[in-house]
Amino acid sequence: MYNDKVPFLDLITQHSELEHELVEVFREALGRAGFIGGPMVENFEREFAAYCDTAHCVGLGSGTDALRFALMALGVGQGDMVITVPNTFIATTEAISQAGASIAFVDIDERTYNMDPEKLRAFFETECAPGPKGRPVHKKSGRIVTAVVPVHLYGQMANMDAIMELAAEHRLKVVEDACQAHGAKYFSIKENCWKTAGSTGHAAAFSFYPGKNLGACGEAGAATTNDAAVAKTMKMIRDHGQAQKYYHDMEGYNGRLDAIQAGFLSVKMKHLPAWTEARRAAAGRYNELLRGMDEIITPLEDERSKAVYHLYVIRTQRRDELQAYLAQNDIFAALHYPVPLHLQKAYAHLGFKEGSYPISEQAANEILSLPMFPGLTASQQKKVVEGIRKFIRSGN
Ligand SMILES: Cc1ncc(COP(=O)(O)O)c(C=O)c1O
Repeated sequence: MYNDKVPFLDLITQHSELEHELVEVFREALGRAGFIGGPMVENFEREFAAYCDTAHCVGLGSGTDALRFALMALGVGQGDMVITVPNTFIATTEAISQAGASIAFVDIDERTYNMDPEKLRAFFETECAPGPKGRPVHKKSGRIVTAVVPVHLYGQMANMDAIMELAAEHRLKVVEDACQAHGAKYFSIKENCWKTAGSTGHAAAFSFYPGKNLGACGEAGAATTNDAAVAKTMKMIRDHGQAQKYYHDMEGYNGRLDAIQAGFLSVKMKHLPAWTEARRAAAGRYNELLRGMDEIITPLEDERSKAVYHLYVIRTQRRDELQAYLAQNDIFAALHYPVPLHLQKAYAHLGFKEGSYPISEQAANEILSLPMFPGLTASQQKKVVEGIRKFIRSGN
């Protein structure tokens, strides 16, 4: 299919291997004319909740819905402020704004690319004052900080012990953006056990966009929580604010997970542990092959972390040249993300400047996501790293 090319992501091979089972799901849904809700959605919700070690999973239309509905169900709304990081996909901050809150950023840790809890602590100390019921009030805007959204970027969980501790101290709700982190683990010293992404915060959001570690054949997402009341509210929000048909306790959204997508996801769920192992093995091979190349910084997997390598992201100062060189040699790498959110045009009104979040800015200029997917072969990886080696040697 790709001849000698090394694609960034190969979904075609994965789907051809699963074609028979996926077509059966479609046939079943057609036979039952059951496209919205029903057993396929409920089954998948049960399976995914068990996989994430949570009491509840609510199937939704996308990861963006999941972030937005989780914030809303936790009571975040008009006049609030929610903290996240600048180096994430815009869906994270769209959800904050669309829940009615305003956005605050704290910078990241330069080795894990995740929220730096020390910077979160500093945000409360320097930018906030104690407000009603001990809640932090953002001095400049007068808004009450009510929630934090750590992003488990590239498939590695953020330092949740520290973030949960600060959240408890300041009475914040925590929504994990686990859209890239299906099955990622983090060892909690506080609880003395491994925790799965989606089970630590008050709620969490997952995306099943086709290219994700668990991807639908279209748009899909889910939210997880251990709180029955939050799950119930999210179920109402996804269905026009109704728990009983045509009795609307509030306005909601049309944000339900399609039955066909849920069926596809159940087929793929069975393979997810093996796919995660394949990704981890591929990351280990890249680490070996890239060892000793001084120009390249390989990703750091924290010792308390089992990352699921949604992306394998290296850093180099000559990133754009390297990406172009690889593309000329049929090796396709990508950028996640080239512009940090505080410098996006959409957020010009927030008044941030270059230099506001220097670690995120430096990362945006230097990161490069190498090809990564479960079927990536050792010889494809050798070709990628050979390309990098030739680029460095040629002094391009
Ligand atoms: C970190 C992050 N947050 C949120 C989202 C939004 O998910 P979706 O595209 O399913 O709405 C994505 C996926 O694109 C993501 O990578």
